[in-house]
Amino acid sequence: MTVVSENQKHPDFIVYSETPFNGNAPLAFLVQEFITANDVFFSRNHGTIPQVNKDDFRLTVNGMVKQQKSWTLDELIGQFPKVEVMATLQCAGNRRHELMETKPIPNELPWGAGAISNATWGGVRLRDVLIAAGFDRKARHIAFSSLDSVQRQGKTFGFGGSIPMEKAMLPETLLAYEMNGEALPALHGYPLRVIVPGYIGARSVKWVTTISAQMEPSQNYFQQRAYKIFPPEVGPDSVKWEDGIMLGENSLNAVICYPTEDEILATGTANVLGYTLGDGHHLVERIEVSSDEGKTWSRAKFLSDTNDLWAWRLWEAEVEVQPGTTHILARATDTAGNTQPEDMQEIWNFKGYANNAWHRVKVQVT
Ligand code: MTE
Repeated sequence: MTVVSENQKHPDFIVYSETPFNGNAPLAFLVQEFITANDVFFSRNHGTIPQVNKDDFRLTVNGMVKQQKSWTLDELIGQFPKVEVMATLQCAGNRRHELMETKPIPNELPWGAGAISNATWGGVRLRDVLIAAGFDRKARHIAFSSLDSVQRQGKTFGFGGSIPMEKAMLPETLLAYEMNGEALPALHGYPLRVIVPGYIGARSVKWVTTISAQMEPSQNYFQQRAYKIFPPEVGPDSVKWEDGIMLGENSLNAVICYPTEDEILATGTANVLGYTLGDGHHLVERIEVSSDEGKTWSRAKFLSDTNDLWAWRLWEAEVEVQPGTTHILARATDTAGNTQPEDMQEIWNFKGYANNAWHRVKVQVT
C-alpha cells in the first residue's frame, strides 16, 4: 500500500505508522491557517486505504426504510442540493500521549495534540438522503459501513459506527464528496464520507458505502469496543465492554501549539499560540494562559471573530516568563461556563480517549 506518495502529504507531515497510515502536521503548521490545507490535514486509519473507482461506487441505504435504495456518486450530486459546512475533525485519541505519561496505555497510538484539523466539506445532507429512502421515523440510530478492510480479533471487516437519529437529521451532518473545494483525497474517504460536526472523528466514516436505519447502535467493533470511555479504575482485565459509554460529542479543549515542548524562551514576554474546540453545543468564549502553575492567568485574544459550533478557534496570548518558569498552561471556558479539568488523573482511561485536561507545555527560560 503506497499511501503517502499517492496522497501527497506535505514533506514535513509526521507519519506515526505507514500501515495503517496515521499522521499529522507539526503543531506549528496547524495554527498557521484557520482552514487546514488537505496536504497537512491529519489522518487516522485503522485499516487499508481503498482505491475506489467512481463508476463502481454505490451508496446503499437499507434497514428501517420503505425500500432499500442505491445511488451512484453522480446521482447523489445530481439529485440532492449541495451544501458546505466548515467543521473541525478531532480524533478521540488526540492528546493521548499526555495520558500515557500519567499511566501506560499499551497498544494505542501515542498521538500528541495534532490529531485535529479544520476543513470546509462539500456534499449532500444525510437527512435528505434518508428522507429520499423513506426512513422509518421509529428508527433510533443511523449506522455506517465502509469499504476499507480492518483486522481485529482474528477477523477482517470494514470500519463502521453509528450516530443517534437526532444528529443524523441535523442540517450540518453531511455525506461529503469534497474537502476544501477538491474531490475528497483517497486518504480522506474518496469518493464519499460522513461528516458529523461536533462529534469525535471516528463517527465521520470514510469510504462509506452502506447506511442503515436501525433501532440499536452499530454492532461494529469501533462502536461496541473501541471509542468507548470508562472510569480511571477500569483496565483491560476488569473491563465489561457493555458498561462503556459510546463516545459522541467532543469535549471542550484548548491546546498550546507554540511554544512546543522543551522550547527555549528568553526571559520577558512570551507569545503563545494555540487552538480551541468546543463541545459542539456551546461556543468557546474565553482562553486563559498561565506561566505560574495556574496562580494567575492572562486572557488570550482570538485570531478571528468567526465563532461557530463546529469549527475550532485559533488564539494568541502573551505571558511573562522568567528563569524559574517551567510550564505554560492553557484552559478554555464556554458559554455554559464549562471549563476543562485541571487534573489528568481524573479523566485517565485505559483506551486513552478524550483528554481535555488543562494543556501544559514544558519550557526552558534563559
Ligand atoms: N473511516 C474508515 N472507514 N476507517 C477508519 O479507519 N477512522 C476514523 C474516521 N473514519 C476511520 C474512518 C477516525 S478514528 C478518525 S479520527 C477520522 O476518520 C479521521 O479522518 P481523516 O483521516 O480524514 O483525518
